[in-house]
Amino acid sequence: MTLQLRVYVPPHPLIKHWLAVARDAGTPSVLFRSAMTELGRWLTYEAARDWLPTQETTVQSPLDTCLATVIDPQIPVAVVPILRAGLGLLEGAQTLLPLASIYHLGLARDEETLQPHCYLNKLPEKFDPQTRVLITDPMLATGGSMMAAMAELTQRGADPTLTRIVCVVAAAPALQKLSAAYPGLIIYTATIDEKLNSKGYIVPGLGDAGDRIFGT
Ligand code: URA
Repeated sequence: MTLQLRVYVPPHPLIKHWLAVARDAGTPSVLFRSAMTELGRWLTYEAARDWLPTQETTVQSPLDTCLATVIDPQIPVAVVPILRAGLGLLEGAQTLLPLASIYHLGLARDEETLQPHCYLNKLPEKFDPQTRVLITDPMLATGGSMMAAMAELTQRGADPTLTRIVCVVAAAPALQKLSAAYPGLIIYTATIDEKLNSKGYIVPGLGDAGDRIFGT
């Protein structure tokens, strides 16, 4: 079977609404943070559909025993927020994945070269090969940070086919790079925008997500 990068833009009114709030330049930081939380929540909900491992069991209802499906507690689930901006999506993701381990990865973009450099790496030395990994970063622009994150993760045994990316705005350059390097990867995004400006910002995008989340 040939693997191909899949990019899902869930057609959900809540996702569309919170994307509009996030795009609006007049949205204050406090509301922008709420928009990121809600987008993190609903995109994680969509991403979890075919990704969270389940197992069959039986439960005793007040009236009878019945078959039931529960989340498999044996299979590790990890969320990797890419700092800073990925923190904005974390709270929403965490409400749906309360037992997930959170591994912070700090990647800053050099504004001249647009290349990422890693200033914080809290990833484990080795992932269990079955680990479900969810990466959060609102803006997939050049793809530099996400490629660097994927390299760190796969070096430590994470399986790209069990990895999901949750972002808010994705752009073609990032999607092309990720598709070439990690064809089994699946991305959930609120929208796909066409272009980047000369500084690597997505247009129309929503501006600097980190600055807007943290009011800087
Ligand atoms: N990072 C952002 O915060 N915004 C962009 O448009 C691109 C990268």
